[in-house]
Amino acid sequence: MSLFRKKSIEDILKNAENESHHGSLAKHLGVRDLTAFGIAAIIGAGIFSTIGKASADGGPGVIFLFIFTALACSFAAFAYAEFASLIPVSGSAYTYSYVAFGELFAWIIGWALIMEYAIGNVTVAISWSDYFTSLISSSSQYQVNEWLCLDYFTAKHNYGEVSGLLASGSTLESIRASNETKGLVEGFLAWGSAPQLFGMRIIFDMPALIINVLITILVYRGIKESRNASNAMVLIKIVVVLLVIFVGAFFIDTKNWDPFMPNGVGGLLKGISAVFFAYIGFDAISTTAEECRNPQRDLPRGILYSIIICTVLYVAIALVITGMVHYSELAGNADPLAYVFEKVKSVSWLSSVIAASAVVAMASVMLVFQLGQPRIWMSMSRDGLLPKRFAKIHPKYKTPSFSTIVTGLLVAIPIFFVDINMVTDICSAGTLFAFCLVCGGVLKLRMDPTAPPSKFKTPYVNSKFIVPAMFILTIILLFVTEEGKAILQYYTTFESFSAFLSKIPVYSFIIGFAVFAVMAFRFSFSLIPSLGLICCFYMLSQLGPKNWLYFMVWLIIGLVIYFIYGRSHSKLAKKD
Ligand code: ALA
Repeated sequence: MSLFRKKSIEDILKNAENESHHGSLAKHLGVRDLTAFGIAAIIGAGIFSTIGKASADGGPGVIFLFIFTALACSFAAFAYAEFASLIPVSGSAYTYSYVAFGELFAWIIGWALIMEYAIGNVTVAISWSDYFTSLISSSSQYQVNEWLCLDYFTAKHNYGEVSGLLASGSTLESIRASNETKGLVEGFLAWGSAPQLFGMRIIFDMPALIINVLITILVYRGIKESRNASNAMVLIKIVVVLLVIFVGAFFIDTKNWDPFMPNGVGGLLKGISAVFFAYIGFDAISTTAEECRNPQRDLPRGILYSIIICTVLYVAIALVITGMVHYSELAGNADPLAYVFEKVKSVSWLSSVIAASAVVAMASVMLVFQLGQPRIWMSMSRDGLLPKRFAKIHPKYKTPSFSTIVTGLLVAIPIFFVDINMVTDICSAGTLFAFCLVCGGVLKLRMDPTAPPSKFKTPYVNSKFIVPAMFILTIILLFVTEEGKAILQYYTTFESFSAFLSKIPVYSFIIGFAVFAVMAFRFSFSLIPSLGLICCFYMLSQLGPKNWLYFMVWLIIGLVIYFIYGRSHSKLAKKD
């Protein structure tokens, strides 16, 4: 059926080669650069910021969540590595899905990846701005105006909340002193002090916009310049992260690790989106395939090395910060790493070093995401699914210039009005969806005996009995353990229709897992991509109904665009 028309691997490679004669991307990247790009994209807002809340909810046991998420990401990373080595072109998951599932899925993935890269960068830009403004105010007399550090709607909402609290007798000091309400004060002040134009308050996050413009210029300017900047930033953040781990280890009080999992599995799972967000990024390396000197050898290595390095660092950091202070102190803390060192007088100097390096770390994440997005659009445009201009390569800088500028704009606009928590969750949802399809794609490809072999092959272990056994074990645990019984009761009680709707993601997971277990048995799927698919789908089911709704709305908009434009302009449509 034409909706699922596929591209052959030979066609894609031939097409990429033809394009390269017309305006080639510059090939400057080796395995070290790719590993550095991976680390650049992974270590950022997640570990410097959102880990605080995840540790407060899960306690020191948050390391289990880090390990589980690392495993899930590694399984997906194997699938990315296999595809990247087989089809070393810039489209990443988009192109892989084109080969495995056909055009419609490819479009959906290309569309979902906007949530990962462009929307992910909105999150990182806002976090960057938070760290940057607090760094400026702590290291100088200068205080950035509140109305220049926040988005319009958050300021408006927080103004309403604080006004309500003040009207009910609280004071600004008491609101500031409470962990629960202190975050509202900045918005209140921003709304109150903002200048007005034609009756409309001017409130926007200026530092987030500025960093977005700077990164866009750098990425536009060239892959070599981007690589050099990324390598330097990675070096700085690795040194600081190692410093945190080694210095922090001397100040661990093991009493803080007791209890290790104070809120059980439920507490851990609250942090799933934040912890997953901390790992996002390794996949972005695959978008630079056409700029690698030896992509088939180096891409798989770069992807896997970067994920291994980051996992070791993350688990160590989680142990250090939950050992240095009681986990409950990390609640509502936006800069947990700097905070734990501020508390130890002899090394409090390290806290400003950490804050400064967080600014560098987040800029490097933005850099890689801002590289990834235009390269995916470039591939979609080559296939005819987007207008030709998206594939235009700058004659001098050898970068996809038009797509790079549109990416900059797409990151800039939401900075004016979205709230950071919302964009973090949306980014995680889009990425998990892409990971599920890439894992599924490898399984599908390996069912096709005519598919060419990849230079990098995921080790094959037959999942025929393992996956069904996992499913049966999950069901048994639900019936026999106390925690399982509580979960079961929660999901089988329907207080209202909206409560039922909110549980749909988890029902979908259980049904999907059952169907997949039967398929694994029937087709003897390879274990690693199977585990990747199950784990990523599970995490997706934990993101909550609101994010599923946002995701669905996003997909529907994408499908409308596909049917209006992409379907008829596709190069494959012209062949039909
Ligand atoms: N993993 C990236 C970060 O934590 C997205 O900032």
